[in-house]
Amino acid sequence: MKFKSWFQLPPKGDNVNINVFKYGDFLVACTDSPVFQTVTQDLNTVGSVDLTEVISLTLATAHPHFGENDSIYISGSSFKGRPNHHIVRIPPYSAVAGTDDPRESLAKAEIICSIPSRSIFNPSYSHSFGMTENYFIYCETTVSLSLIKTVGKVLSGAAVNDAFSYDPQEMAVFHIISRATGEVLPTKYQIPGLFFFHTINSYEDENHIVLDLCSFSDFQTADLFTQPIELFKNNEWKRKKHWSTYKHYPLRLVFPLSIPQTSPSNSNLVKLKDTTCTAYRNPSSDLLIDVTSERLLPEGEKWRRLLNHLFLFFFLVASDNHGTRITANSDTGSEDRIDIPQINYAKCNGRKYRYFYGTGLILGKVDVVTKSSLRWRGSASQYPSEPVFVPHPDATLEDDGVVLASVCDVDPSKRDFLLVLDGKTFQELARAYVPEKVRVPYSIHGSYYSI
Ligand SMILES: [Fe+2]
Repeated sequence: MKFKSWFQLPPKGDNVNINVFKYGDFLVACTDSPVFQTVTQDLNTVGSVDLTEVISLTLATAHPHFGENDSIYISGSSFKGRPNHHIVRIPPYSAVAGTDDPRESLAKAEIICSIPSRSIFNPSYSHSFGMTENYFIYCETTVSLSLIKTVGKVLSGAAVNDAFSYDPQEMAVFHIISRATGEVLPTKYQIPGLFFFHTINSYEDENHIVLDLCSFSDFQTADLFTQPIELFKNNEWKRKKHWSTYKHYPLRLVFPLSIPQTSPSNSNLVKLKDTTCTAYRNPSSDLLIDVTSERLLPEGEKWRRLLNHLFLFFFLVASDNHGTRITANSDTGSEDRIDIPQINYAKCNGRKYRYFYGTGLILGKVDVVTKSSLRWRGSASQYPSEPVFVPHPDATLEDDGVVLASVCDVDPSKRDFLLVLDGKTFQELARAYVPEKVRVPYSIHGSYYSI
């Protein structure tokens, strides 16, 4: 019996702690697997839904996009048979006669597009995707998942972290998919060494697709999201050193959709005036385009980095429990890397936009037009979560609203709080402290819904 148990799969997990989205009158908690947990708005659990029971899906993204008529889109991958990457449509919530169980609607998810993986045994890992008015953008990144290693890990009950690998020589390949038909366009766009967790926004501009994302130079940076809370305690400089090892920048890529058959391979196909991104036809194929990226925050000069580090040192030595606002026109130091981006989604997703908000060890508001940023930095023991933008009910401007972030303070003598920043100025407006004996765990993603 014990021997037989070695070959039994462990029970599926239902730890859906990555993100949450509104679904009709319910909330849905999700993670990187196709399992959802549904709850009522007063946070009573309704139950879970496992999409693997209705469609072929092994991994799923916890970063849905919200489209027409309240349809929801996620991307994912299936590893049964030849690996495929998918775009999945989840129909809007509709009460089924005799029941208002949201799981009935969720279980009607359907695959609307499939992209065969470039590798049978080492498919790429992707954490999010882009959606414009007419297209989805899906990337086969340079991080791959060894299916052979994964099988061994799963059978032994071990975590699959070691089954991921990053190859800086590998090409990240972008696929463009028609939202109307699910058809994958024949032209592919590639760039070496690129990995990212999070897209920021994407939009169409004069027959180009513009995609902004938060890049990583090395997948080991993901350790930051899995390190135990002990590393957050009394070990600030070690963590900052770890953080500074990796390059981690918000980037822009531009994919020209109109490619004249007669264009020579040395002709830049990007015709937009406000970008330095390039795209050149690959000499080996008319359907393969080599692209280069543009940084959304320029790299700081060495002297500026040095000054910034000195400033940070004295700030941390002298800091109290109050945050500070910093203006910067360049990416001045490793401690200021920005990821986990949020935009004014309702107004700007899939459209030309100007601002995004993000976090690293700081909170930041980035202006992608001027390539400058405003930052909020707490004390050395404070770790802010993903900033969530909440627009003013009567807003006309993109950044008219507030930014919310929960702040975990690892100093046991300090209380955690919800931080409220002005969306325009990034000035601190308020803090809502939790009771003394309540701790708010360090979180990554969040959402705001008016109930
Ligand atoms: Fe994420």
